[in-house]
Amino acid sequence: MLTVDAIHTYYGESHVLQGVSLRVDAGEVVALLGRNGAGKTTTLKSIMGIVPARRGTIRFDGADITRLPPHLVARRRIAWIPEERRIVPNLTVYENLRLAMLKAPVDGKEASARLEEALAFFPRLRERLTQNGKSLSGGEQQMLAIARGLVAGPALMLVDEPTEGLMPIIVRNLTEILHAINARGTSMLLVEQNLEVALALARRVYLIDQGRIEFEGTPDDLRGHPDLLRRYLGV
Ligand SMILES: Nc1ncnc2c1ncn2[C@@H]1O[C@H](COP(=O)(O)OP(=O)(O)OP(=O)(O)O)[C@@H](O)[C@H]1O
Ligand SMILES: [Mg+2]
Repeated sequence: MLTVDAIHTYYGESHVLQGVSLRVDAGEVVALLGRNGAGKTTTLKSIMGIVPARRGTIRFDGADITRLPPHLVARRRIAWIPEERRIVPNLTVYENLRLAMLKAPVDGKEASARLEEALAFFPRLRERLTQNGKSLSGGEQQMLAIARGLVAGPALMLVDEPTEGLMPIIVRNLTEILHAINARGTSMLLVEQNLEVALALARRVYLIDQGRIEFEGTPDDLRGHPDLLRRYLGV
């Protein structure tokens, strides 16, 4: 479904991704793990076309998307859930969701169906539709960020550190929700600092360090290599 082949990405002269290759098959959750500054967010931004790769190729459903601008990547049904959530504070939950849908042109009936589908995963959001974004808890803001991605009807979601800074009970709840979203057919490339969350959700895992993929395997492979966990994740 998604194939990233030897991409090189720069910020100005700074050569951050140094030949990153990975793939996500249809239906999979794949985790991308690594220390702070390893290049996880940059990988997602390269896929989205926000920081385009200078070399290498990114293919999605058979098409070359390496140099597509972000709005055209989104139209191919790839949704990006950014690390910093970016909720519009002075709009309500409902308005935040409607705003997200403007980017994926659909008629009124289809739009309501998608909204319903997204809200079905998030009963807490449904109870707060008329509340302002800024009044939501951290966990609820993360739910809204994910719901906003979902209303676009993505085939693949790029989710950047969804559980960062959240209380354990919310982390568990969110993990179940992500699992349910995947079970309904959305593939995911998941960046996580929380190893247990990543290993619980992912079918395959990549470890990235200094802009290079250093390991690919199953969660069980990784659990069997505490040396890798120590070297690349510091745990
Ligand atoms: N806008 C930018 N301009 C210049 N350098 C950047 C920029 N964004 C990130 N970098 C650098 O690129 C490298 C990779 O950053 P990236 O954000 O991809 O890491 P990350 O793995 O997502 O880390 P974290 O776990 O802290 O989110 C880091 O060295 C970072 O300092
Ligand atoms: Mg990051």
